[in-house]
Amino acid sequence: MALEALYDEYARYYDLLYSFKNYQQEVIEVQSIIDKYRTSTGIDLLEVGCGTGQHLKYYKEHYTCTGVDLNAGMLAIAREQLPDVPFYEQDMVQLNLNQQFDVISSLFSSIGYVANQHDLVTTFAAMAAHLKTGGVLVIEPWLTPSGFTPGFIHMTTYESEDVKIARMGLSEARGNTCLLDMHYLVAEKGKGVTTWVDRNELTMYEISELVEMLESVGLQVHVEELGFTKRGLIVGIKK
Ligand SMILES: C[S@@+](CC[C@H](N)C(=O)[O-])C[C@H]1O[C@@H](n2cnc3c(N)ncnc32)[C@H](O)[C@@H]1O
Repeated sequence: MALEALYDEYARYYDLLYSFKNYQQEVIEVQSIIDKYRTSTGIDLLEVGCGTGQHLKYYKEHYTCTGVDLNAGMLAIAREQLPDVPFYEQDMVQLNLNQQFDVISSLFSSIGYVANQHDLVTTFAAMAAHLKTGGVLVIEPWLTPSGFTPGFIHMTTYESEDVKIARMGLSEARGNTCLLDMHYLVAEKGKGVTTWVDRNELTMYEISELVEMLESVGLQVHVEELGFTKRGLIVGIKK
């Protein structure tokens, strides 16, 4: 299933499935890293692959925020939750907002969906062009090929009185592409039980490869450890 269809169907359940994530704490941690490197003085922030806007909910306490995502379903929820934030439906590979930002962040591995290295370098170049001098780009990458466990089985569940969700999957690799078939089973009061399978394809890079790509578009790069994710955080500074 195409990515857009995947997230359209998924959008209604996304925040429920990820209700275990502490977005507020993530923003606090990311903000301390932003503060460590940023030398531009403005407060304009762009979130790329913003999904339903969960990080923006907390970013907006400190920054003037804008969100971009490819998926209309995810953006519909983001707009409903954050009516005062401008959201744009764009492919990050062709990011084009005619504005520059002090901070661009792309969290929870959204860049993993960019299909190949050529498109990812194009994405990084577009992000760099949208940064002010002294601004910072913060990227939470997807899994690395060396950190990937083929055949890994995962399950996420959510349960309330009105809706119960189980999502299971098994990770396989084809070269550097991680193939993730997500099997959904959703029971909703008054609507019955639905099941579907969605294929996610995410491209894996070693951190050193991502650093090289970011340097190739003119950014000064630092790699940071983070509390909330083993995936770390890559920071690009526009000098
Ligand atoms: C795992 S979700 C992360 C969403 C959000 N950042 C969060 O932390 O909850 C990945 C998001 O990336 C978006 N996405 C995938 N490919 C994209 C692209 N090429 N351009 C813009 N957004 C994209 C998806 O629509 C989805 O909302």
